[in-house]
Amino acid sequence: MPEPRTDYDDAVVRKFITATVLWGAVGMLVGVIIALQLAWFPANLGLPWTSFGRLRPLHTNAVIFAFAGNALFSGIYWSMQRLLKVRMFNDALSNFHFWGWQAIIVSAAVSLPMGWTSGKEYAELIWPIDLAIAVVWVAFAVNFFGTIAIRKVAHLYVSIWFYMSMVITITLLHVVNSLAVPVSLTKAYSVFPGITDALVQWWYGHNAVGFLLTTPFLGLMYYFMPRAANKPVYSYRLSIIHFWGLVFLYIWAGPHHLLYSALPDWAQTLGMVFSLMLLAPSWGGMLNGLLTLRGAWDRVRTDVVLKFFVVGITFYGMSTFEGPMMSIRAVNSLSHYTDWTIGHVHSGALGWVGFCTFGMLYWLVPRAWKKPLYSDTLATAHFWLGTIGIVLYVVAMWVSGITQGLMWRDINESGLLEYPNFVDTVTRLMPFYWIRLFGGLGYLVGVLLMAFNFIKTANGETAAAGSLEAANV
Ligand code: HEM
Ligand code: HEM
Repeated sequence: MPEPRTDYDDAVVRKFITATVLWGAVGMLVGVIIALQLAWFPANLGLPWTSFGRLRPLHTNAVIFAFAGNALFSGIYWSMQRLLKVRMFNDALSNFHFWGWQAIIVSAAVSLPMGWTSGKEYAELIWPIDLAIAVVWVAFAVNFFGTIAIRKVAHLYVSIWFYMSMVITITLLHVVNSLAVPVSLTKAYSVFPGITDALVQWWYGHNAVGFLLTTPFLGLMYYFMPRAANKPVYSYRLSIIHFWGLVFLYIWAGPHHLLYSALPDWAQTLGMVFSLMLLAPSWGGMLNGLLTLRGAWDRVRTDVVLKFFVVGITFYGMSTFEGPMMSIRAVNSLSHYTDWTIGHVHSGALGWVGFCTFGMLYWLVPRAWKKPLYSDTLATAHFWLGTIGIVLYVVAMWVSGITQGLMWRDINESGLLEYPNFVDTVTRLMPFYWIRLFGGLGYLVGVLLMAFNFIKTANGETAAAGSLEAANV
């Protein structure tokens, strides 16, 4: 039998890592700016291009597709070559994927501040960019399945299944939700009418969370966590049940975004029931991740990679407990439209997506560049700034959201609204918006420390207290 090829393409991994850090810093900076705008309106600068309405989708697109997207591609390109013991199927496709994805990000960074938008949340980009996304994604899919086809290992490890669910589902979601009739270069009308359009949009929106921010990150967790802990995954059987349970249930839960809307009642109930059932596989996965550390918990005190993964997975558990609760109609009647949703989003985004990405990067960068990490001390400072930042952000939004929801429904003795003026609720929330801003700022400073640490690492420098562990690929 011929020896497996091990001349893996790590150059493309290094490029995706660089893009992750760069766009992460940009996207979070925009997050901090819009957080400031909510606390202090003159920060809108009175210009249309810098107004909250235009910068908000810039933030969400940058952090989801540029930061989380590039992070996923870094981890996928690194791990799948090693799991399948083969170089990526085609180098040209890998490079086309990398540069095409960055070009799409740049076009989003121009078009969104210009106010060119489809008006669909998380799918705001205009139709010509949507077409470009389809082309680049298909190139990635061909490269992905091509690599599986030429693999040297028969067994497909569970991470590959999680990645596969992303490649297939995102193709479907993007194509169906973007179907539209163009009327000019920047404007198109959805082919779906009224409530059908809303249902398709939230089938897309919810599963973009499910199949971009959840399943592929679980694939990364199943690959990087056992390596970082130096332990086999707690239960391989549980990971398979976790996979099938999650992909079967996720796809039906979208209607929980449309509770109390014109959507038929049965469809709303379906969304709620499937969301409640999602708790089981989600927690199965969380426990499988955490229990992988059995016998290695003492290392969490000293190993920054494990610190990030443990807190990240814990936030996964928290947000996947909170989500099913928020999908219960009675709870949603309080939480919907309030900052509670924003708190939920960021416990998943900053805690789960962000921290798993950082854990993976601190493990990956020394190996991809074959140099020891510049400074463990800076990495630990990043961990604490990030953790305190998330807690400030999320707790402020929980308090502000529940305050807001209770004030909106408060009725006085005469049966009239206690706070008939919307602005009364807004002024009450101001302190929490400042707390969120400081939390977000701390989180961003942590990311900048990480960027500095990685630049020094790539240059081959080592701080006095730097990691002495040789990069061991
Ligand atoms: C420095 C870190 C961050 C700050 C300060 C920040 C701030 C914000 C602010 C102020 C909003 C608008 C809230 C509103 O409309 O009331 C927002 C929305 C959002 N952010 Fe962030 N963000 C950060 C990081 C992230 C990351 C890393 C992700 C994802 C990986 C993310 C995903 C989102 C999403 C999905 C929304 C829209 C939520 C919704 O519509 O319910 N954010 N963010
Ligand atoms: C079992 C898992 C989960 C369930 C059942 C769930 C459920 C929910 C519910 C009920 C809402 C509020 C909908 C509304 O009132 O409009 C929501 C919003 C949201 N969730 Fe989750 N969630 C889960 C996990 C997560 C995770 C892990 C993340 C992030 C990584 C996340 C990201 C979001 C986002 C971005 C929104 C805001 C959507 C928008 O209105 O713009 N969710 N989720």
